[in-house]
Amino acid sequence: MSEFVPVCKVEDVPVGEARQFKVNGTEIALARVQDGECYAIGGRCTHLRAQLGKGELEGTVLTCPWHGSQFEVTTGKLVRWVQEPLVIRIFAALIPPFLRRGVPSYEVKVEDGQVLVKI
Ligand code: FES
Repeated sequence: MSEFVPVCKVEDVPVGEARQFKVNGTEIALARVQDGECYAIGGRCTHLRAQLGKGELEGTVLTCPWHGSQFEVTTGKLVRWVQEPLVIRIFAALIPPFLRRGVPSYEVKVEDGQVLVKI
């Protein structure tokens, strides 16, 4: 059964950035968007498992630091599949569309400056 688990303090994730955490054995990417809201999605890219929490956040879209796949942090949905470098992009294009997946998304709440994620 899932329950809310404390992950970090709100200020540990600067506005407009993401961070990688491990919560009860599950890796998550915690993103804090411009309005200060926090979102949690699966922490490993569905391409080659890079840590998404080390990616770049633009709006609500988190870009994988390795090959540029993008994920919507409010839902975990895949926004864009592998982009770079070109040779990786060509090989990744051979992966059937049904295997190009998003990542899970997790409920988040903030209490007393503490971020809790339902895992
Ligand atoms: S590991 Fe994320 S796009 Fe390749």
